[in-house]
Amino acid sequence: MKFFVDTAEIDAIAELNDLGMVDGVTTNPSLIMKSGRDILEVTKEICDLVDGPVSAEVVATEADAMIAEGRKLAEIAENIAVKVPLTWDGLKTCKVLSGEGRMVNVTLCFSANQALIAAKAGATFISPFIGRLDDINIDGMDLIEDIRVIYDNYGFDTQILAASIRTVNHVTECARLGADVMTAPPGVIKSLASHPLTDKGLAAFLSDWAKTGQKIL
Ligand code: G3P
Repeated sequence: MKFFVDTAEIDAIAELNDLGMVDGVTTNPSLIMKSGRDILEVTKEICDLVDGPVSAEVVATEADAMIAEGRKLAEIAENIAVKVPLTWDGLKTCKVLSGEGRMVNVTLCFSANQALIAAKAGATFISPFIGRLDDINIDGMDLIEDIRVIYDNYGFDTQILAASIRTVNHVTECARLGADVMTAPPGVIKSLASHPLTDKGLAAFLSDWAKTGQKIL
């Protein structure tokens, strides 16, 4: 499973990228707002840092304007994936931009039928939002499972990009169910290394080591 990092914070992306943990980056208008940066400038910096796809989202809601914004965002760098919401106009935009050979990430997906029509419109990535379904007491993982089955039934190339990942258990489940990609905030990716038994075991080893009075260096 590929790891995308869901942030527009350059330092956090760089730290994870140095460890080989970043196969791509996703941003959205809320994350740009949070960064306090200009969208074109910060997205260019991210694209220069990371080799994989970098999602940058349009904010127009009508297809012609979405297409124009998408083309402008795609000019930033070769690795831009234009992100469009899963609306009828978003699907029209997806069809046009993917037909021009651009990567398109269709976002705000909350149902298997939405994922099906995004694939038919030529989406490179479909972004089902797991955490936001969990927020309304619907198991987001059922959606990942349904999309996996549907895409495999018909051989769609659209990659399932599990988004709104909030916990390490979400990551495990996505990997188990065969999501192609998951995107998570830096904190969730870093916490994948944590386990209380690792901490407990390490503390015991260090305590015993101190009793030996030895040094390695
Ligand atoms: O990738 C989508 C993500 O940014 C949304 O996450 O936690 O706001 O639902 P969240």
